[in-house]
Amino acid sequence: MKVIVTGGAGFIGSNFLYHLRKKHPAWRLICLDKLTYAGNLANLKGLAQDENFRFVQADICDREAVCRLFQEEQPDVVVNFAAESHVDRSIEDPAVFLHTNVLGTQVLLDTCLHFGKIRYHQISTDEVYGDLPLDRPDLFFTEATPLHTSSPYSASKAAADLLVLAYHRTYGLPVTISRCSNNYGPYHFPEKLIPLMIVNCLQNKPLPVYGKGENVRDWLYVEDHCEAADLIIQKGRIGEVYNIGGHNEMKNIDIVKLICRKLGRPESLITFVADRKGHDLRYAIDPAKIHRELGWLPKTNFADGIEKTIQWYLDNKNWWETVISGEYRKYYEKIYGERW
Ligand code: NAD
Ligand code: TYD
Repeated sequence: MKVIVTGGAGFIGSNFLYHLRKKHPAWRLICLDKLTYAGNLANLKGLAQDENFRFVQADICDREAVCRLFQEEQPDVVVNFAAESHVDRSIEDPAVFLHTNVLGTQVLLDTCLHFGKIRYHQISTDEVYGDLPLDRPDLFFTEATPLHTSSPYSASKAAADLLVLAYHRTYGLPVTISRCSNNYGPYHFPEKLIPLMIVNCLQNKPLPVYGKGENVRDWLYVEDHCEAADLIIQKGRIGEVYNIGGHNEMKNIDIVKLICRKLGRPESLITFVADRKGHDLRYAIDPAKIHRELGWLPKTNFADGIEKTIQWYLDNKNWWETVISGEYRKYYEKIYGERW
């Protein structure tokens, strides 16, 4: 089996490549990644000596480059993780989100069609469903929940999902889509809540919590997401959407306090700052379908997952110090400078 993983130098994509290598030692794995600010070759160090792994730096919007790679590798499956992925950045500058997330997806779909209807899996997000109210804990996102997006990021992901389904219905392309809740774990870029709070704690820097910190996210350890995506590419029903989540809802403020406790830092570092524009209140996934059809269940509970994650950041100081030394500084000033 030959698999092209786009966006494999990012957080979830790199974890997915390691997962595939461990589970399927004979598979040929090809990573196509543009190496934007979020892509990092250091994330793939563990595969550098692997003879059955290839890395290609290219933009998914670059039709020629994508075509050339497909011609050379003749993949059986394409899994698309490549995306602009951060809501706050999408609020500042939506254009690149539409370009990569929508048009890039179209290029991949066209190329899959062109090379004889290659099996395509789209990594989407629960954010395409919009948000749920805080006072209705009985409500969850199912695959039948209407798309109802809030941010330019989620709107671009929803547009891509619709395009993927259109290519299935119109051209018969064999596709699947997964919509996962918030991931956390190793190699998570420190612009997102959990790694940002860990990295700031480790530097004794203020911990910027948006609004009152009451917003709820449904957290899943990244390895569980990788396992679910692996199952879907092998056994998922063509044309179907699968929600992925582990029923682990937490308020942001509780996560930040937990990280402070685990790292022995005072809660006085917590600073409430101006809220995110259009801030989604609550995400909560109903993962019954993937459990029923594919037997998937998460294996790592939050207590163990956050312990492992914090330990990873303690063990990989060099990784995050390098990541936050470049463009990140400017980003941090831009996003947070106006918020205090
Ligand atoms: P990330 O930002 O860490 O990584 C994105 C990767 O895509 C980077 O390596 C980047 O270089 C690459 N990339 C960006 N634009 C590209 C382009 N035009 N061409 C080729 N490569 C490009 O993101 P992540 O958190 O790993 O998310 C991966 C996917 O999973 C995204 O599609 C995201 O929408 C989805 N998702 C993320 C979460 C989460 O909690 N992080 C949850 C559900 C779904
Ligand atoms: P984030 O990790 O950006 O993921 P999402 O895509 O779910 O928005 O943010 C998770 C939650 O944490 C979200 O409610 C916004 C909040 N948040 C903060 O309070 N402070 C921060 O510095 C960041 C990055 C996020």
